[in-house]
Amino acid sequence: MAILVTGGAGFIGSHTCVELLNAGYDVVIADNLYNASEKAVDRVKQITGKDLKFYKADIRDKEAMNEIFEKEEIESVIHFAGLKAVGESVVKPLEYYENNIAGTLVLCDVMRNHGVKNIIFSSSATVYGDQKPPYVETMPKGECSNPYGWTKSMMEQILTDCAKADSELTVVLLRYFNPIGAHSSGKIGEDPQGIPNNLMPYVSQVAAGVREQLTIFGGDYPTPDGTCRRDYIHVVDLACGHVKAVEYADSHKGVEIFNLGTGTPYSVLEIVHAFEKSTGVKLNYRIGERRPGDLPDSWA
Ligand code: NAD
Ligand code: UFG
Repeated sequence: MAILVTGGAGFIGSHTCVELLNAGYDVVIADNLYNASEKAVDRVKQITGKDLKFYKADIRDKEAMNEIFEKEEIESVIHFAGLKAVGESVVKPLEYYENNIAGTLVLCDVMRNHGVKNIIFSSSATVYGDQKPPYVETMPKGECSNPYGWTKSMMEQILTDCAKADSELTVVLLRYFNPIGAHSSGKIGEDPQGIPNNLMPYVSQVAAGVREQLTIFGGDYPTPDGTCRRDYIHVVDLACGHVKAVEYADSHKGVEIFNLGTGTPYSVLEIVHAFEKSTGVKLNYRIGERRPGDLPDSWA
């Protein structure tokens, strides 16, 4: 029996595959390589010394997904596949709703047709909207500030409704805070195409001389140093959270929500100074305008 990892060639997916293989699970990846490379899959095999099955497949392609479920003995699904750039989702809402929502509908339908009863879903702290942190799982969801966030909120609802309709189904909704870092082997990590949207890859590229200067988005927020605070969680800790979620799903039914964060916020300036201290590299940065849609504070 194997775990199907959709989007398993991506940043969080590849680190999760390492932890699943290390924990003794068989792994099958389905990824269309829209935002990843098959090299990451080879690196996962190198790191673990274990084999896995890789399918270059789009989760919206029902025929391809059916074929995977027919060939492989899938017991649980970890669903990472999706588009994730907040700013891009504002410009291309249809592409985001189509890829994320339609893909999830196909996946759920194929799972149902093959009697697969466990799904672990990559959600986001963004579903809490603009409430006062700390965010706890029992809070109601809030208004999302962009289409990407709404796709996460809607997919949570779709999966919850599927579990209401099928008492045998287990749905684990994992709400991530800010995943950062890379595997200690240095073989896999975050490698975004083009100009990074997220703080840590931008910081790394400035330190490496790939980009000239980091712009800190806003220095006048109502926070201790004026820059936004976030709950940064190491990607390997996040990956281990998925192994725990698979174990949890094996012995529970229904829907459960878990935040994956640390509970401790750090400001952008604190992150910049910590990076400088640990690498010994001075970062060229300036304080710029606020980025539309950013919240001052977010932590678990
Ligand atoms: P990523 O882009 O590195 O990984 C997503 C993977 O899904 C990529 O490999 C991409 O090729 C694949 N994919 C996209 N659409 C697909 C489709 N239709 N069919 C098959 N494969 C498809 O992103 P990531 O940072 O690893 O994020 C993984 C998941 O976690 C995403 O759902 C994302 O929304 C969610 N998430 C990420 C963050 C974050 O800050 N990185 C925060 C909260 C939630
Ligand atoms: N930031 C900068 N300069 C940059 C990039 C980011 O100052 O060049 C700041 C942002 O303003 C923010 C902080 O760094 O204050 C973190 O920004 P990220 O873009 O790295 O992350 P976000 O908190 O905006 O969003 C992330 C994920 C989303 C997810 C959300 C959940 O990218 O997918 O966390 O909390 F929905």
